[in-house]
Amino acid sequence: MSESPHTPEATGLREASRAAEPAEAARAFEAAGARAAAEPDRAAEAARSSEAAESGRAAGGPRASRPQAAPRFPGGPSPDPAGSHHERRIRSFQPRRSRVTTSQGDALRRLWPVWGLDIDGLRTLDLGELFGDGQKRSDKPVVLEIGFGMGEATARMAAADPDTGILAVDVHTPGQGNLLGLAERNGLTNVRVANGDAIILLREMLPPSSLDGLRVYFPDPWPKPRHHKRRLIQPDFLTLAAPSLKPGAILHCATDWEPYAEQMLEVLTAHPDFENTQPDGGYAPRPDFRPHTRFEGQGLRKGHVVHDLLFRRVTRPGATDAHSGATAPEA
Ligand SMILES: C[S@@+](CC[C@H](N)C(=O)[O-])C[C@H]1O[C@@H](n2cnc3c(N)ncnc32)[C@H](O)[C@@H]1O
Repeated sequence: MSESPHTPEATGLREASRAAEPAEAARAFEAAGARAAAEPDRAAEAARSSEAAESGRAAGGPRASRPQAAPRFPGGPSPDPAGSHHERRIRSFQPRRSRVTTSQGDALRRLWPVWGLDIDGLRTLDLGELFGDGQKRSDKPVVLEIGFGMGEATARMAAADPDTGILAVDVHTPGQGNLLGLAERNGLTNVRVANGDAIILLREMLPPSSLDGLRVYFPDPWPKPRHHKRRLIQPDFLTLAAPSLKPGAILHCATDWEPYAEQMLEVLTAHPDFENTQPDGGYAPRPDFRPHTRFEGQGLRKGHVVHDLLFRRVTRPGATDAHSGATAPEA
């Protein structure tokens, strides 16, 4: 997004965005949500049952430098923004080449230069600039959402809380176009859409203590034992994510896959950088601000039970900050 922020089209959209009232955006949202719900989501459904060939080493390893592939949508998201297609490491998502509807493609072409961002792993993001309007930096708090799917829940949360910026990350091209279209139709100025692997974003592009929250809603459950290593929520991921979170920031996870919920609770409870917000050390009630998501709906229709987990980022004396290598002072 920062590569072409001053095109006439980008400037016009930003001005339109500035004029939009949050209350109007919230009202318009309900109507647009119904239209968006009609968009097909074959690829997201495929993710649940994906059985991809796999190879590699754990997330967090060094990234090989590779030439970038040609974009599928000129001016839009790159198919391999970090040039890491050949990097041997475990991925938490299933690479998919799924159909993009006409309206999603149109949104990608027009809106990507304004609100889109490739995770290229080559620069440190300035979130104040990223969420600014091209002239003025933003001082909004920013939460990262990993795996927004088709983005309906993301757009709802953005409409309901215009004073928070949502950095929404996914590799799913139709979903990126869908979320951009929802943002435009609802006058949402507080969503940025990042394309690529959230691991590279956390590892190489986010400054320390830059996030006010992290949301991971219905991550791919990878039910087969041999695929458990592909689950996102595990100790290495938490160690990678923690330094980007401000002390007190909330990591909010939700899943309808019982064994994954148990794994989440276990690894989050054991991790020194997080503490449970629930006094009883268990699952949390679903907070009002989290809308039902598309995958949640599928799980509920199958009779699954949904669990939310709300953990707070803490800095304990003696803990090492993985970004800076600094040690937290004794209390
Ligand atoms: C099962 S879907 C859930 C989508 C949405 N949150 C919902 O509840 O409807 C999980 C999504 O996470 C995305 N994802 C998984 N790992 C990711 C990663 N490392 N970086 C970016 N996106 C990822 C997948 O592409 C997929 O769209």
